[in-house]
Amino acid sequence: MSRIGLIFLCLLGLVSCWSEPPPTIIRAQAQPEVIARGRELVKGLAACGVCHGETPNPSSILAGGRIITDEYGEVQATNITPSASGIGNWQDEDVIRAIRASIRPGGNWISADMHRGYEWMSDEDALAIVSYLRTLPPVDKELQRRELSFVDRNTKGFFDSRPEIRGYVPSIDPKNVVEYGQYLTDHVARCGGCHHSPASLLNAEQYLAGNRLVKTDLGEKIAPSITSSRIYGLGEWNEAMIVKYLKTGLVPDGSVTDPNFCPTGFFRNASDADLMAIARYLRTVPG
Ligand code: HEC
Ligand code: HEC
Repeated sequence: MSRIGLIFLCLLGLVSCWSEPPPTIIRAQAQPEVIARGRELVKGLAACGVCHGETPNPSSILAGGRIITDEYGEVQATNITPSASGIGNWQDEDVIRAIRASIRPGGNWISADMHRGYEWMSDEDALAIVSYLRTLPPVDKELQRRELSFVDRNTKGFFDSRPEIRGYVPSIDPKNVVEYGQYLTDHVARCGGCHHSPASLLNAEQYLAGNRLVKTDLGEKIAPSITSSRIYGLGEWNEAMIVKYLKTGLVPDGSVTDPNFCPTGFFRNASDADLMAIARYLRTVPG
């Protein structure tokens, strides 16, 4: 067929001219290692309970209800246990889509701010998380889900973007320590959600450069720079100090940060190898 002819048929929609990635069938897994990895992420670096817990600590049940403030106003974190009022009736891929793309089944938007960074979470880690959530005891707790109106969506949330990554997101080999550390920092623990400097009219957001005001229902604090800047950041910290901090909240000068703000109570549940990868990566971030 001639090129023109093919283009014509494409326009008519008679033949499929670009190949969509093959639909991946996603099913929660029952293998103990997968569930263990999911548990380690949910209770550790991904810290889902910071918002979805009834209290912001790793042992709290994930039945939601706490009020979180975002660019649209106030919203209740939802019940993510596998009950009818939670995510019990959702397909596994719907849960992954809500985590990574901030879209509910049916196409409703949820706050993209809340899950920002997760969009590049690997398929393997996202699947491990869902597999673990399926093993939680279902908690029946009906919460009002927020529906963002057309007006809200188009007048508020100027920085709102919800890139939806289509296709397979590969895992980073933990042997590539720095690259893997970057993945964990940006797409699992999402340190930048609090530690990027805030954008202003004059300045763009600066990567991990600090000075952002973090507000929770328990008050507010400024997140400092965690780049390798010797003046503002972690330039004087070695890897062991960073790992120790992530497990305890202990700053080398002897002070302790508040775990209700920097979620070190969660981070301590991560593996030493994962924390070490983050530490090694942070030492490479220019200040
Ligand atoms: C910074 C706070 C925060 C963190 C951390 C967080 N979430 Fe959420 N999540 C929310 C809020 C708030 C909503 C509801 C947003 C809305 O309605 O606009 C939500 C919505 C959801 C939904 C949609 C549920 C529904 O019933 O509509 C799922 C599923 C979800 N989150 C799973 C997770 C998982 C799994 C993690 C950890 C990997 C996680 N979230 C981490 C705040 C958070
Ligand atoms: C929910 C917001 C939040 C997240 C997510 C977060 N932090 Fe923090 N972090 C803070 C705040 C706020 C402080 C200051 C706390 C205080 O002063 O009590 C802080 C303090 C720190 C400090 C102490 C720095 C100093 O000079 O005293 C380090 C180091 C740190 N965070 C590293 C990290 C790393 C690494 C991650 C990701 C693995 C991370 N944080 C994720 C909010 C956050």
